[in-house]
Parts: sequence; C-alpha cells; structure tokens
Amino acid sequence: MKIAVVGGGSTYTPELVDGFARLGTTVSELVLIDPAADRLEIVGRFSARIFENHGHPGKVTWTTDLEAGATDADAVVVQLRVGGQAARISDETFPGECGCVGQETTGAGGLAKALRTVPVVLDVAARIRARARPGAWIVDFTNPVGIVTRALLDEGHRAVGLCNVAIGFQRRFARMLGADPAAVVLDHVGLNHLTWERAAYVDGVDRLPGLLAAHVDELAAEVDLPAEVLTALGNVPSYYLSYFYAHDRHVRQARGAQTRGHRVAEIEATLLEAYRDPALREKPALLGERGGAFYSEAAVGLIAALQGLDPDGVHSVNVRNEGTLPFLPDHAVIEVSARAGAAGPVPLPVAALAPELAGLVGHVSGYEELALDAALRGGRSRVYRALLAHPLVAQHERAEALTDRLLAAGARHLAWA
Ligand code: G6P
Ligand code: MN
Repeated sequence: MKIAVVGGGSTYTPELVDGFARLGTTVSELVLIDPAADRLEIVGRFSARIFENHGHPGKVTWTTDLEAGATDADAVVVQLRVGGQAARISDETFPGECGCVGQETTGAGGLAKALRTVPVVLDVAARIRARARPGAWIVDFTNPVGIVTRALLDEGHRAVGLCNVAIGFQRRFARMLGADPAAVVLDHVGLNHLTWERAAYVDGVDRLPGLLAAHVDELAAEVDLPAEVLTALGNVPSYYLSYFYAHDRHVRQARGAQTRGHRVAEIEATLLEAYRDPALREKPALLGERGGAFYSEAAVGLIAALQGLDPDGVHSVNVRNEGTLPFLPDHAVIEVSARAGAAGPVPLPVAALAPELAGLVGHVSGYEELALDAALRGGRSRVYRALLAHPLVAQHERAEALTDRLLAAGARHLAWA
C-alpha cells in the first residue's frame, strides 16, 4: 500500500512516521510531499531512518511534486498549513484586540484559517484525485477539520476528517482503568474541536461515571476547566471547550503572553536541528511538546480500517451528519465514533444530546456552514455574517471590528480580498 502525506515536510511528520514504522505493516511506500524542499529533505531523511530503525520493509520517499507523489497512492493524508506559523500567530493575535479569544481553530482565528485553507485543500484534492488510485481515501488532518472535511465532501471527494482529541481521551481513560486502549469505546460527540466524552464503554459497561468520581480533578486540569464544570455536565469536554466555558479568562491570560504559534515556531526550529543529526533514529522527546500525541496511531488505525483490514475497530471521525444528530442538517459534518470499513465510516448510534450540548453544536454548526460559504465565495459580507453567527462573537460591533481586522491581517492569503 502506498500512502502519500501532503504537508509531509512538517516537523510533526516523524510522529506519523513512527506510527507507520511500528504499526503500518502493510505500507510499502510512504511518500512525503511538500513545497518546502529544504525542510522536506531533512524530515524525509530522518523519516527513512525511523523506518530503518524499526526494520520496516517499506520505503520512505519525498518529493516537492504533488502529482508525482500522489500517483497510485492508496490513501492520502493531508496535513498542510497555509501561511505557516506566521499566519497562525496572526490568527492568535487579532481577535484579542476585540476582546475575543485568539485561537487557531476556534472563533475569528479559526475563520481566518478556514478562509485561506479551504481553497488550497480543494485544489490539492482535485490534483490528487487525478493521480491517486480510484477509491483512494483522503484523510484530512488540516484544520479547521470540520469545515475542510465538509468542503471536500461537497466536492465529491472520498474524504474523512481526523483529529487526535478522541484517541487522546481513549488512551488516558484506558491508562486510568488499567484497560487495553482498543477495548475502550468512547461516546465521543459534537463537532471537530467542540466535542464531549459522554461515556467510555469497556465490555459494554460505561466506566466514565467512575472515572469522573475518582479522577475529576485530574481530568479537569487536563481540559483547563474547573472540576465543577465537568461535574455539572456529567461528561468530559475537550480542551477546546475551555475557549467557550472560560472564554474571558483565556482573553485575560493571553494579554502580553507569548502566543502558542511563537512557542511552536521555537520548538520547530529546535526539532529541525535535531532531525538533521544522522545519528537520530527515533522521534525526540521534544516532539511530545506539540499537540499531536497519538495522531499517528489514529491515522494508522483509520487507514487500515478503510482498507477493510480492521472491521471491529471504532474510530472518532468527521463525517456527514445524515441524521445522526437529528437537529442538524444532513449535510453538516459532525465528529463522532464510527466503525469504518472499505465503504467508509458508519457512525455508532448516538443518544440524544443534552440541551446545552445540542444548543452549542447547533450554533457552531450554523457558523461552520457560513464559514465554508465565505471561504468558497469570498466577500466581506460573508465573512461578517459568519462572524456574527459565531457564539464567541455574536455582537454586531465585534463582528464588524473583527471582519476589518481579519481581512487586513489575512488579505495576502485571500485571492478575493
Ligand atoms: C491538537 C489538535 C490539532 C492541533 C494541535 C495543535 O493535536 O487536535 O488539531 O493542530 O493540537 O498543536 P500545536 O503543537 O501545533 O499547538
Ligand atoms: Mn484536532
């Protein structure tokens, strides 16, 4: 099986490569594709050493030529970042000037990212489709994953969106329970970066109430919220929900502080230096300071399932709603646990959402639809309308001010601005 990785020059890539080296036994070729030739070569050589070190029989190759790399691929991982860390730092900064949280996937920053990213991913996907094997799956890690996945599905691509939030909880709960991670099935529900763990089944028994009783402080600290919030909800929200439930605190904390993008740029520089060392044959510990824990295992597991190799596995994925959440349109994209086979992911049945979950999901899903429309068709009024629809913006004066700042900060990445 040939796997292509678009954005393969990312300093994250060795995490993915480590997963394929350990678990991806059916991979014959892993090709890394990236326009940044220098970085690609450093990451490519290091990735090849990781395969070698694990005695993996497959080869790692790399190319700046998307068409060549995608040719005959059986699956393509898309993990690109338009505008690099500089654009991310902008997304994390401008909303703060209007009293809103600055985050790369949530709120106004997430909209800026969607606007510049969707057209690029659609172009890449069309070029992939012309070269990859018929039926090849696109596995999208590119943020904002919900909006990007919906754009791909609307264009008729065979695509599924993936995020590591759910697998992170699965691994954490398994550790707390002393269980095999594969035996823990999550009731993971919501939209990408707007999810809650409502249950954790082991052998059909929900162990989440017990986990909340015994470890609520640890779980609350992990998602940067007070324990009272988890207790009131009766579930475990993802870290991204802290931007909603603790919005004003995030705004206060961000004042004068280093952005995550700045910190990531420092980590990336150090990682690249480390990757150059021909003696380095394993992913370095510093990579653990990035947010990508277990994303390799999520990708390897899902790709194997989509090849029909793991009929029993459950994966948390971004898919069309198609009635799973009855209060959302069928064409919305949601993030839920699913079984995946060669025909694609099929969501597990989802029990009705509590009012506070359904309300927020409906609100943000409406925003996502408008964000995608703005990304595809451009125009100031579409950007404004999407911002007005976002629960973290909501007021018209803020929406106006954020629209101006977003367009000023992001114009060079927007063909229409
Ligand atoms: C988690 C999220 C990803 C996001 C990452 C950011 O893994 O699921 O979607 O890209 O965190 O991590 P970073 O190290 O770039 O801040
Ligand atoms: Mn994610």
